[in-house]
Amino acid sequence: MSGAGSEHGAFVVAIDGPAAAGKGTLARRLADEFGFAYLDTGSLYRAVALALIRAGLPAPDEAEAEAAARALDFALLASPDLRREETGNLASVVAAMPAVRAALVDAQRQFGARPPGGKPGAVIDGRDIGTVICPDAPVKLFLTASTEARALRRFRELTAKDQPADMARIRAEIEARDARDAGRATAPLKAADDAHLLDTSDLAIEEVFAKAKAIIERARQSRT
Ligand code: DC
Repeated sequence: MSGAGSEHGAFVVAIDGPAAAGKGTLARRLADEFGFAYLDTGSLYRAVALALIRAGLPAPDEAEAEAAARALDFALLASPDLRREETGNLASVVAAMPAVRAALVDAQRQFGARPPGGKPGAVIDGRDIGTVICPDAPVKLFLTASTEARALRRFRELTAKDQPADMARIRAEIEARDARDAGRATAPLKAADDAHLLDTSDLAIEEVFAKAKAIIERARQSRT
């Protein structure tokens, strides 16, 4: 029921959704709970963007962005600059380029097929995990929240880190990012047909976590 190889493969929890819907927080908690590895795929696109910004290419063409993706320095994944709005915005631009996505597919699939540390499963979050990267994942979650709720979350994250934050600008950037992520031709942001939809606008993280945990436990039981 969960796709080819499920008896032998790692157990993948695919989490997709728009910017600031709470994917990262939920994914990290679930990975801890089940002893799974965690991959935030947005950080890969952000690392490509950061490499381009540092190389003085804030408006790269597809060939430049692909070259940056293929030569990706994984040390960039630890940079605090990854979380800057500027990095996120360029990440969304390069993520719309098919050659960049193609350059990053294998690493993501490998992570799901053989999670690091010999862990029995992986939680992978992004925009196209349930649809393109791991279409056979036994659990797919699609997190949504209103634009207002997501903008407020981003605002609080930034101010907590003493970074400049302006609500109107954040809201406009989230809207622009949603439009780009959902409107692109290659692997657009969209829920898989078999994804569980969770609207987190009015839910505390504990409630979202409890719902997701129950879904995973049910799927794990039905797999044994
Ligand atoms: O989740 P995030 O904000 O860190 O992602 C940054 C950008 O990367 C986002 O605007 C779209 C892109 N992205 C993507 O296209 N596919 C993914 N699987 C993850 C992120």
